[in-house]
Amino acid sequence: MEQEKVIVIDFGGQYNQLVARRVRECNVYCEIYSYKTDLEQIKSMNPKGIILTGGPNSCYEEGAPTYRKELFELGVPVLGLCYGAQLMMHVLGGKVEKAPVREYGKTEVFVENGSPLFTDVKSTTICWMSHFDYISRVAPGFSVIAHTADCPVAAAEDRTKNLYAIQFHPEVLHTEEGTKMLYNFVRNICGCAGTWRMDSFVENSIIEIRKKIGNGRVLCGLSGGVDSSVAAVLLSKAIGNQLTCVFVDHGLLRKDEGDEVEAIFGPDGNYDLNFIRVNAQERFYIKLAGETEPEHKRKIIGEEFIRVFEEEAKKIGTVDFLVQGTIYPDVVESGLGGESVVIKSHHNVGGLPDYVDFKEIIEPLRNLFKDEVRKVGLELGIPEKLVFRQPFPGPGLGVRIIGDITAEKVRIVQEADAIYREEVEKAGLGRSIGQYFAALTNMRSVGVMGDERTYDYAVALRAVNTIDFMTAEAADIPFEVLQTVMSRIINEVRGVNRVFYDLTSKPPGTIEFE
Ligand code: XMP
Repeated sequence: MEQEKVIVIDFGGQYNQLVARRVRECNVYCEIYSYKTDLEQIKSMNPKGIILTGGPNSCYEEGAPTYRKELFELGVPVLGLCYGAQLMMHVLGGKVEKAPVREYGKTEVFVENGSPLFTDVKSTTICWMSHFDYISRVAPGFSVIAHTADCPVAAAEDRTKNLYAIQFHPEVLHTEEGTKMLYNFVRNICGCAGTWRMDSFVENSIIEIRKKIGNGRVLCGLSGGVDSSVAAVLLSKAIGNQLTCVFVDHGLLRKDEGDEVEAIFGPDGNYDLNFIRVNAQERFYIKLAGETEPEHKRKIIGEEFIRVFEEEAKKIGTVDFLVQGTIYPDVVESGLGGESVVIKSHHNVGGLPDYVDFKEIIEPLRNLFKDEVRKVGLELGIPEKLVFRQPFPGPGLGVRIIGDITAEKVRIVQEADAIYREEVEKAGLGRSIGQYFAALTNMRSVGVMGDERTYDYAVALRAVNTIDFMTAEAADIPFEVLQTVMSRIINEVRGVNRVFYDLTSKPPGTIEFE
């Protein structure tokens, strides 16, 4: 069954993944493609609608990202957002110029007529603006359907051709009725039925996986994190014991985590899985010795993972497919989806070595956002405790120890992290915080303990609230809780004499430290 699809064409703006998420919240499947994607390829995907995103450029400048005029002549509804809106006007004969004042932040927008884009939207509505350029003249055939005090064209439409342009950002939650506008576009204007649901995702995936794998043997890298656990259970539902799960303890797991994962997925656990645990701590530490560069560390860990899998696969005999729990933000942030710059090589994606000794890699969750993966997990009957587990990155504590990694540093961060998690849970804050963990700063400083001078490490506590892990704010943990954590860490973890709380949001920080 072909899934109806909206295509988001990425012009390099910062909110592009949000556009895709919001569309999916309308139960419409959508994917992000770079503006460099050929028109023929776009056509072949048979989209029900196309959305052009924002971007940092000025469309009238030479060399600025653009798109062929024919995109607007496919008979498929197109919605341009911010840069996308300006580009639509520019390409179709309107005029875009530098504005005398930059319009930025929450802005009152006056909606002028009964455009289908604004069905059920109030006539004065708060929207998020962020632009230097403005549309000074709409293209022939267009009429203005919204304006602000500073911006004569906040939105425009050519209703007969189903072309719509919005200067503000409906995908950002500061735009109070933004989701309604996107819903109006994808459901009413594009006519999508809204059949994208997680139960249908599970059903369709099982059918596709069976078709693809046939009688083949499959190896799944299981980390015990939400993504790989959901991928493993999905595969196990589809192909039963053709699947073998390999859990690599790379020595960069949280305290006692190896045993916990084994307790859930191992022979005494909840699932009927072929489960192999590989204790590979030593070989990871040897490979990582002295390495301080974050990207190198990620690549080393990613590569060693694959080598361990290959070795296990050889012991099993022929393995045709390797399953990985890669999810959509990993793909996009690794620079493989749209136009976004590479932030980090995510383990499982950019971190893969070129040579991988398997016929094919299967990534059943590759197109899903984290909250969608969780819905799939619940749909598959995975216990809530596991589904709502804290995300834990593939490279593990490797990206929470700044600088080189040693067994001693791993011990410090494991113990500090265990104390932090225990106290946060004791305070009843666990589920209310998106992600929280301790990291080792690799900085040592002078302290005094029991009249003795110390020269020990500083631990950083991180806690963030986030909806989609693309942006995040530091969580407001009560000071008494932080104080308890600090004094327990200093007293109980040898080698630490200072504790910091990280207040940085994302951006400019990332959630992990490397
Ligand atoms: P950053 O540090 O990029 O993290 O702000 C965003 C989210 O992704 C997780 N993360 C990873 N997950 N492999 C993963 O599976 C990775 O290499 C990786 N790096 C970061 C991070 O824990 C956070 O939830």
